[in-house]
Amino acid sequence: MNIPPFTPDEFTGPIAVITGGWSQERDRSLLSGRTVNDALTGMGIKTAVIDLDGPRDALLSGLGHVESAFLAIAGRGAEDGGLQGLLETLGIPYTGSGVLASALGMHKLRAKEVVSEAAVLVPRSDRVNVGASPELEAERLEARLGLPLILKPIAEGGSIGLQVATSAESLISAIAGAGGNLLMAERFRTGRSVSVGVLEDVDGTVHALPALEAQTPNGIYSYAAKRGNADCDYHCPARLSDTTADELRRQALAAHRVLGCVSHSRHDFIVSDDGRAWWLEVNTLPGLSRSGNLARMAQADGLTYEQLILHILRGARVDRRAHV
Ligand SMILES: Nc1ncnc2c1ncn2[C@@H]1O[C@H](COP(=O)(O)OP(=O)(O)OP(=O)(O)O)[C@@H](O)[C@H]1O
Ligand SMILES: [Mg+2]
Repeated sequence: MNIPPFTPDEFTGPIAVITGGWSQERDRSLLSGRTVNDALTGMGIKTAVIDLDGPRDALLSGLGHVESAFLAIAGRGAEDGGLQGLLETLGIPYTGSGVLASALGMHKLRAKEVVSEAAVLVPRSDRVNVGASPELEAERLEARLGLPLILKPIAEGGSIGLQVATSAESLISAIAGAGGNLLMAERFRTGRSVSVGVLEDVDGTVHALPALEAQTPNGIYSYAAKRGNADCDYHCPARLSDTTADELRRQALAAHRVLGCVSHSRHDFIVSDDGRAWWLEVNTLPGLSRSGNLARMAQADGLTYEQLILHILRGARVDRRAHV
């Protein structure tokens, strides 16, 4: 990708780096916020760091004089369209996707319905009725989806709350222990965990970055692995045949377009041994730390971290979010 060099007079006002928040991914959001802020200030761009979890007055006054907002944050309340709606209402340009794509992307079941319309292959899944008897619900899910199943929150990230049920008993106890969480059950697909980043030019041309494989002993890219607390080897580009790599790119680009994403997104897949790529979910605000997945993919494509961050910031000027 061709990223024109930064010119010092490109941005006139301060850029709000919005980070933190109250989701379970707060720690990862703060990490993205720090590294994004360091990169921007390192280029000589004026910033104001705003924690979304701060007092409401501080948030609103902090947003009062900024040129645009750089969203270095993930999870509920930030990645789900809520923050995007606030910024739209205040008339502040912001990075990443708009309200609709963000809300859709945060709801894994709805997102899968939409992407499957664009010939993107998804594992079968269903909402878990946590109000029903765990025994009857487990029976229903097993009959519909088979075993093993993976259970995950419908609207969470970072592999939080992920459970694999390999037997009727483990499925029953997972459902019984769900509490008030909105859960989904998904057919477990054995294979490699692979992620594909998508970057858009300001004219809307989409570009898939080299795929990244996260290799873990049991194949699951877990909460611990994502935080560097469990074995995980990264391969970028992922170890895939050309045909599978092409198919992953096609599916990631198709999903980005049909969901109406803008600027950048990261798509997570399982690639089964037969080479089929199963789309799991989109991250409309993927982690942006220097060693994060999107930065690794960008680097494999010849982009420095600073170029990636500058490109995403320039994308805030795009006025296509309302037209999806
Ligand atoms: N259906 C499945 N079959 C096999 N493994 C799965 C399945 N769904 C999820 N996984 C494993 O769990 C990981 C996390 O799943 P997923 O990407 O859906 O969750 P997430 O919490 O939203 O992730 P993120 O941190 O990217 O927001 C996947 O990368 C994969 O390793
Ligand atoms: Mg994921």
